[in-house]
Amino acid sequence: KELNILAISGSLRNQSSNTSLMHAMIKLAHTNLKFEVYDGLNDLPHFNPDLDVEEGPVSVQNLRAQLKHSDGVLICTPEYGNGVPGVLKNALDWVVSSGEWLNKPTIVIAASPSPMGGDKAHASLLLTLNMINAQVLQEGCLTIPHITLKMNKQGVIIDSETQRALQNSLTILGEACNQIKS
Ligand code: FNR
Repeated sequence: KELNILAISGSLRNQSSNTSLMHAMIKLAHTNLKFEVYDGLNDLPHFNPDLDVEEGPVSVQNLRAQLKHSDGVLICTPEYGNGVPGVLKNALDWVVSSGEWLNKPTIVIAASPSPMGGDKAHASLLLTLNMINAQVLQEGCLTIPHITLKMNKQGVIIDSETQRALQNSLTILGEACNQIKS
């Protein structure tokens, strides 16, 4: 069965390792997973409940529609200042009360050049996703320390253990999405 996965990178940087990792995962995935890359983080206004009116900002409508039409979500994110990148948290703030993420199978991968692997951003993101009742697949969630040693500049995963772990995460995501669809 074909499954639609919304892929979100929490980094706006052109040479982002997390964006490269997201694309590497898309290549690793089984062909029944059809990925849509979300590219709207930079277009969202700062979250303000006053703007959250019917027919609100188009960028917000788009985010919500893309989430609604996805069967599952993949997030790859860096950590800034021991936390979730503001642009990513901003996107989450826009969907806290709108409900599109409810029961949506979701995996979170945090990658960092540091030995800690972005663990604080990872944990913080899971707190928010659990609060909005996403179906966070704990076994599929990963922190990847030393990302620069595990993926080369061309975005190829050069560490076999990391590749296996990422493949396993994608399998877990696919299985959870399948269960909901069937
Ligand atoms: C960082 N970085 C970082 N890394 C980390 O593991 N924990 C942290 O708290 C921070 N904080 C932080 C703050 C600022 C201002 C910068 C510029 C960087 C390093 C970060 O992980 C690294 O730059 C990654 O390469 C960013 O991810 P992308 O853009 O490569 O996906």
